[in-house]
Amino acid sequence: MCKIEKKVERKREMGGILKGESRGGVEKQLKGSKMKLWMIRATTSVLLWTCIVQLTAIGDTWGPRVLNVWPPCFNRESDAASSLVHDTLPSIPQRVLPPKRVYKNNGYLMVSCNGGLNQMRAAICDMVAIARYLNVTLIVPELDKSSFWADPSEFKDIFDVEHFITSLRDEVRILKELPPRLKRRVELGRVYSMPPISWSDISYYHNQILPLIQKYKVVQLNRTDSRLANNGQPLEIQKLRCRVNFSALRFTSQIEELGKRVIRLLRQNGPFLVLHLRYEMDMLAFSGCTQGCNEEEVEELTRMRYAYPWWKEKIINSDLKRKDGLCPLTPEETALTLRALDIDPSMQIYIAAGEIYGGERRMASLATAFPNLVRKETLLGASDLRFFQNHSSQMAALDYLVSLESDIFVPTYDGNMAKVVEGHRRFLGFKKTVLLDRRLLVDLIDQYTNGSLSWDEFSAAVKESHSDRMGGPVNRLVIPDRPKEEDYFYSNPEECLQIPSIDLLSST
Ligand SMILES: *[C@@H]1O[C@H](CO)[C@@H](O)[C@H](O)[C@H]1NC(C)=O
Ligand SMILES: *[C@@H]1O[C@H](CO)[C@@H](O)[C@H](O)[C@H]1NC(C)=O
Ligand SMILES: *[C@@H]1O[C@H](CO)[C@@H](O)[C@H](O)[C@H]1NC(C)=O
Ligand SMILES: *[C@@H]1O[C@H](CO)[C@@H](O)[C@H](O)[C@H]1NC(C)=O
Ligand SMILES: *[C@@H]1O[C@H](CO)[C@@H](O)[C@H](O)[C@H]1NC(C)=O
Repeated sequence: MCKIEKKVERKREMGGILKGESRGGVEKQLKGSKMKLWMIRATTSVLLWTCIVQLTAIGDTWGPRVLNVWPPCFNRESDAASSLVHDTLPSIPQRVLPPKRVYKNNGYLMVSCNGGLNQMRAAICDMVAIARYLNVTLIVPELDKSSFWADPSEFKDIFDVEHFITSLRDEVRILKELPPRLKRRVELGRVYSMPPISWSDISYYHNQILPLIQKYKVVQLNRTDSRLANNGQPLEIQKLRCRVNFSALRFTSQIEELGKRVIRLLRQNGPFLVLHLRYEMDMLAFSGCTQGCNEEEVEELTRMRYAYPWWKEKIINSDLKRKDGLCPLTPEETALTLRALDIDPSMQIYIAAGEIYGGERRMASLATAFPNLVRKETLLGASDLRFFQNHSSQMAALDYLVSLESDIFVPTYDGNMAKVVEGHRRFLGFKKTVLLDRRLLVDLIDQYTNGSLSWDEFSAAVKESHSDRMGGPVNRLVIPDRPKEEDYFYSNPEECLQIPSIDLLSST
């Protein structure tokens, strides 16, 4: 029958030899496994094929490294399956690869991502889901090398490409490159290239893109940001987006190792808060937010904004923008906010960011309020970071890993990194993410600094207004016809989250 049966048997054999476990625990486990077995029988007899595919898929994608931290996702069958795999894992020495999905290939999809790491990451998830749905072969996406960050890294420099390909093979075929004949055609420039329409439904890809792929055999999508709508997509598509994001996209072992080291160094000294302090030159030039900057800095930022033709907005009123909550918090505003939220002054604060604009001068109030400020550069030696130095995406990947693990995550701006980490932390069991209401905050801060609010009033107002903004379970905001304003799928992938109180299998 289904492979789950075999694993259950193995689990039983193991029942008695689990080291260091009390008998009560073993019995409870066995009872639990009977329940699970019953549930699995009921479901697998209907879904024999699905179950084989899913179990093996999960055995692989939920490999040993992630099993301890990642809660079950996807659907109920896989919940059961993953917990079984979890229990039996010590007896399975090598990973089981999922069987390949068999389908008639409709052609090849090439993808050139645009934007920073986290925007590209979301795009890769979308493109895998699209390729799967169209029954085409996806070529490992090309990353943006010409964006502001000018990072020459390839997909394989950042992500574990073998894992990406094999862990998704039960859904879609992915190749590192086109077959030779098509590759030659592309090298000669004979490839149909186009940007898909933003926020399209999957039906657009089916009705408009698939015929092109069938006609030309290979199509290249040359822009990828927000090309698939957040909402209204089939549940399978949403779940696949999550699966790519949370388990098929794994950083290279080099990045993961370094991330683990940083996390270990931080953990040695107790809990830590990651502050994604998006107070970097590009952000300020682009947004035109100059609160707290001196005249020379305002000029420098303005010059930079005019120098980049693709930053369309040139004339910006910083004060108005700030009052509308559209500016990243300054380091000074951030220090006041963290203090108002009663963050322990002795807490380690890891700054996940590049160079802070204005340097030490601007960081002074934050450093006074929270003396245990650290950054990757202070935790690691220069030699550790040498290979990363000129690769902003790899640096960002490192910050991403540390952000995921933190006890508290606080982004000062809702950029792509902030959003994806927020969603990932929800996925990891609604870990605390403080979602700052910047519009309200700057108003409170102004009232506090001009003396209309006392410290206690200010602090109480900040705490009160943020009590339900801690990254807990909420519904994703849907605004039909205004996709730009609704919540981003990846910041709250509701379809893939398991609400903590609902645990159908732990009733024994
Ligand atoms: C994709 O393949 C599946 C299974 O072979 C089939 O049911 C489905 O209709 C195909 N879809 C497209 C768009 O070719
Ligand atoms: C994408 O392809 C279209 C059509 O070939 C082209 O006009 C456009 O400039 C390309 N865009 C990018 C970002 O390369
Ligand atoms: C990084 O880039 C800078 C400036 O382009 C260069 O001087 C430096 O040698 C590079 N470092 C490494 C490790 O490649
Ligand atoms: C994509 O991944 C990031 C982190 O991996 C996460 O924050 C975001 O919500 C994810 N999106 C999806 C598809 O769930
Ligand atoms: C203090 O600042 C707030 C917010 O900007 C403003 O509404 C208020 O009138 C100011 N009060 C004083 C006394 O300046």
